[in-house]
Amino acid sequence: MSIFQQLQESKIYKNEQALSMEFLPDFLPHRETHIQQIANNLNPLTKGRKPQNTFIFGAPGIGKTCVTRFVFRELENFAGEKVDTVFINTWDYNTATALLAKIAVELGYPLARRGLSKDEIIEKLVELLKRKNKSLIIGLDEVDQIVKKDESALYDLLRINQYVNSPVGLVMISNYEDIFANVEPRIRSSLDAEEIKFKSYSLEEMKSILKKRCEDAFKPGVVQEGVVLLCANHAVNRGGDVRVGLECLRKAAKVCEEEGGSKVTVEHVKKILLGVKSVKVQIMQDRLEGVDKNIVELLSKEKEIIFSKLNSKYNKSYEQLSDTSLKQHINYLESIGLIRTREERKGSQGRKCYLSLVRRKKFT
Ligand SMILES: Nc1ncnc2c1ncn2[C@@H]1O[C@H](COP(=O)(O)OP(=O)(O)OP(=O)(O)O)[C@@H](O)[C@H]1O
Ligand SMILES: [Mg+2]
Repeated sequence: MSIFQQLQESKIYKNEQALSMEFLPDFLPHRETHIQQIANNLNPLTKGRKPQNTFIFGAPGIGKTCVTRFVFRELENFAGEKVDTVFINTWDYNTATALLAKIAVELGYPLARRGLSKDEIIEKLVELLKRKNKSLIIGLDEVDQIVKKDESALYDLLRINQYVNSPVGLVMISNYEDIFANVEPRIRSSLDAEEIKFKSYSLEEMKSILKKRCEDAFKPGVVQEGVVLLCANHAVNRGGDVRVGLECLRKAAKVCEEEGGSKVTVEHVKKILLGVKSVKVQIMQDRLEGVDKNIVELLSKEKEIIFSKLNSKYNKSYEQLSDTSLKQHINYLESIGLIRTREERKGSQGRKCYLSLVRRKKFT
């Protein structure tokens, strides 16, 4: 081995990537039943028949995205010549035109979005699907975004089925169970989605998941007894998000490396525990823009603030914003679980509304 190779070689890691959030393991413990269920729903696609549309929901960080990507990967491997899979996060594509154009891009045919109307994009997409003559399954992650901003997109996607022979199906994912409650009945009934609820992992389950990730990531014998339990326990106490456990492992391993050690110990974990917080709220906050971002910024400086005060602070710090508009943004932030509102009756003055930032979201 050359001297530079030796320098690249980690003392502890075999594959550091295996602790990253994007890494898709070849086995997902404790999700076998759901994997089977989703596979059953999608299986008709392999025979050119319409799949069962599926709606997956549950708390953050419990495998909804990775299970769906896992099944999509299996489906591509098994029937890639007959089925296309596309997976899109609707945070990033939250209008029908943006979403439809992105699907075309994912299928390898970029459309010039600007200048094309929605119907023109649909027409092109239909043309494309006819030419490919393959079944298509579309994964819509964080689907609440498109439901909120442009629910017609779902209808448009389903409508494509009327124009092509090979079927198009949807797997939709969200943290929230009731996102379709206010959707137009026509859209809801044509979705006809089977609901799958993902339950949070128990401590034992979290432990075995993290243990498997450690086996993929570290060289044998590197992780001391007790490390996984400590990380799993922290993750379960922080809302049950596996990403918290993975971050504990990564950070502890970093301390170990900095100390030049060759064993990740319970002491390493104890040093970093306080610095590892829930991640979902952070992820959602990072995605905000404009007014929503400004509101969160202002709320982060207060424990609780009354609406009228927030309003005047907003207008002082940023651009002028009407009461109604600010209220709309607040409703939105509340609906995605980033802020909390509390109303208090104040005699003749009517009701007062207090707002606060959710620092740690509790999901059921
Ligand atoms: N059963 C499992 N086995 C191995 N890794 C898992 C398992 N469940 C979750 N993970 C890992 O935990 C992390 C979070 O999972 P994932 O992204 O699927 O969560 P999610 O339910 O989609 O969360 P969110 O609602 O925030 O989008 C990923 O890195 C994923 O690989
Ligand atoms: Mg997800």
